[in-house]
Amino acid sequence: MNNMPTFIFDLDGVITNTEDYHFDAWKSICFSLNYDLSAEKNEELKGVSRSKCLDKILKWANLNISSKEFNEILKKKNNLYLNKISNIDSSNIIKGVYDFIENAKKHNHLIALYSSSKNAKFILKKLNLYSYFDAIVDGNSVKASKPDPEGFILASKLTNSNPKNCVVFEDSEAGIIAGNKINMTTIGIGKSSKLKIANKVYEKFEEINLNDFK
Ligand code: BG6
Ligand code: MG
Repeated sequence: MNNMPTFIFDLDGVITNTEDYHFDAWKSICFSLNYDLSAEKNEELKGVSRSKCLDKILKWANLNISSKEFNEILKKKNNLYLNKISNIDSSNIIKGVYDFIENAKKHNHLIALYSSSKNAKFILKKLNLYSYFDAIVDGNSVKASKPDPEGFILASKLTNSNPKNCVVFEDSEAGIIAGNKINMTTIGIGKSSKLKIANKVYEKFEEINLNDFK
């Protein structure tokens, strides 16, 4: 087992700003359901699987729909989202992320991804980052999405790392809760007050230095 901390990255909102595109797509869907999705409520959708997001929205909007409609909405949401990300490339990597990953690899840290998104591998390839990851866990690999720690546990197993020796980078409350549950070191990135439950919070990824984890 490697003693250097293993870094487990979230994707949307940590590596790339696709979180804004998820929000835009859900906003359009919510508009058609006569529900106004606020930025504050959207914080609760971050890190949560597509179907669990729709469950939450239907609850907030006090709506009941058939399973056929449910699946149609999921499909529509994903199509809206895929349309928005069709042109992303390495210029969409958030400042500081690429340099951190390169430096961490140079210093023999293992790098893993755990994203609730089923589009994660596709996006990593578009960003030209796929080959940097020693393990990739996405929405297709787990039964329970964040705040359940299943995906983080799998990422630690795939990298042969002790969970206590893993550092999680997350922009979502759900992700921080999941990492905290299994005693990983949780790093919140962003301005949301919901991130205060993390071991440490940075407003921007570019403020993080590899030496912070020595
Ligand atoms: C997470 C996002 O990374 O992926 C959530 O934070 C999103 O907002 C979830 O709902 C699922 O993504 P996808 O791409 O499978 O719809
Ligand atoms: Mg995220």
